[in-house]
Amino acid sequence: MSGSAKTTEGETVVVLDFGSQYTQLIVRRVRQLGVYCQILPHTASCEELLSLRPKALILSGSPGSAVGPAAADMDAAILESGLPVLGICYGMQILARMRGGVVQKARAREYGPAVLKVDGPNELFEGCGRTLDVWMSHGDFVAELPQGFSGLAHTSGTPIAAMGQAAAKQYGVQFHPEVEHTQKGIKILGNFLFRIAGCRGGWSMKDFIEDAVDQIRTQVGDQRVLCALSGGVDSAVTAALLNRAIGDRTVCVFVDNGLLRLGEAEQIRRLFREEHPLSFRSLDAADKFLLALRGVEDPEKKRKIIGEMFVQVFREEAARIGGAKFLAQGTLYPDVIESHSASGGPSATIKTHHNVGGLPDDLEFELVEPLRGLFKDEVRLLGRQLGLPEQMLKRQPFPGPGLAVRIIGAVTEDRLRVVREADARVQEELRDYDGFSDIWQSFAVLLPVKTVGGMGDDRTYATVVAVPVAMSTAAMTADWARLPPEFLERLSSRIINEVKGVNRVVYDISPKPPSTIEWE
Ligand code: XMP
Repeated sequence: MSGSAKTTEGETVVVLDFGSQYTQLIVRRVRQLGVYCQILPHTASCEELLSLRPKALILSGSPGSAVGPAAADMDAAILESGLPVLGICYGMQILARMRGGVVQKARAREYGPAVLKVDGPNELFEGCGRTLDVWMSHGDFVAELPQGFSGLAHTSGTPIAAMGQAAAKQYGVQFHPEVEHTQKGIKILGNFLFRIAGCRGGWSMKDFIEDAVDQIRTQVGDQRVLCALSGGVDSAVTAALLNRAIGDRTVCVFVDNGLLRLGEAEQIRRLFREEHPLSFRSLDAADKFLLALRGVEDPEKKRKIIGEMFVQVFREEAARIGGAKFLAQGTLYPDVIESHSASGGPSATIKTHHNVGGLPDDLEFELVEPLRGLFKDEVRLLGRQLGLPEQMLKRQPFPGPGLAVRIIGAVTEDRLRVVREADARVQEELRDYDGFSDIWQSFAVLLPVKTVGGMGDDRTYATVVAVPVAMSTAAMTADWARLPPEFLERLSSRIINEVKGVNRVVYDISPKPPSTIEWE
């Protein structure tokens, strides 16, 4: 998806990413305010940035220090371009430094809640009152303002907690307005966008649909598109968008790779045959995938193999239907970011998501990825607007490499059986449990260890299953669900008693970061 939304006449805001874990959250907040927003790495040139015709620029935070020669910086010409700028945390420090101010290391890191006192009336804090609870996370601070800037707010530990130069429309805040813990954070961001940068807002999913349909039509012309259907939300929404754009020149292909959950292949076939009776094709390629994965333990190798196998199957299918130049898939924004490290920015590549990184270089298909700029909840919203059934939209995210990345170590038929049966118990138990509404994902992971147990009079030496139940809104961060002990007890007892080959269950109590949701 390009950055400019036709219906809002190119009203785009760019977040220059210095590697903060909150960068994506800033993007989401700006979009929630009705302004299309996208990320560029901090290394982007002024020319590259201006080619997106942005209305404003936000500088993100960073895990690094703004003090010293190694500090990540940006093209200085950007700050001379006349664009309204809001620097957040590190973004404020780098703005101060590049404009001639002084940034220093603080004696103690300020982390967590702080009380912000607004020093006087100004546009950034308009309508926010004089005292606000804000969220801080920094070790450096702006010790001297750049020329022409004024201090706008302070906390007890940070004398310059916000700064601005109204004439240049350049502002900085040391705290994080994008996180929920900051009172009036959305109001502050809104003030920057609408009062200072002159955005009009009004970007919505309807605009997105119109733009995406236009772009798909332009990209594919009168050609046919193979649409890779996994049965998950993303590929279903991609298929619906394609159908709207090019009708039955969309050929939806569902590949049963043998790595799906219990009963999933049948469920997908049933749902899609009803929804798209003309263009739905279902292929059984389980043997091929399992053969290719035999003995492979390394998670990244598994992903690559699965990516390659998918492409092989799609090539064969394209040949069978008389050729297709395009392959569509439901790649999301977080997939793009996590596979290639924040738009090429300084945060590390964590794992290669099959949708993006697992594809071979000699793909031969041109990719159509209309959801590349969206987050999961935006995709659900889009699906709803396109009229997809709730049953389809509410499905939990499921990784492209499927159960292969939930079996730690080699994938075998028997290990697939165990993880599938254990996963089914997790789903059944949670379906009947309404204690948490924001469970993002719940599943079973098969560990490559055996432990000793006793069943009846017999000693057992069997497998361990781990159960993660993650709460999240966009999977960029996640926390584990505080499920009650009675619930966990019942789940563990069901898995141990009902799934042959398991004698121990452990519950995953790791947040993301530093962990990830999937174990591989
Ligand atoms: P992690 O494990 O990185 O996962 O915290 C974040 C979200 O992405 C899903 N995920 C994947 N999706 N291919 C995908 O299509 C993959 O290889 C992959 N790995 C993780 C994961 O299920 C979670 O929702």
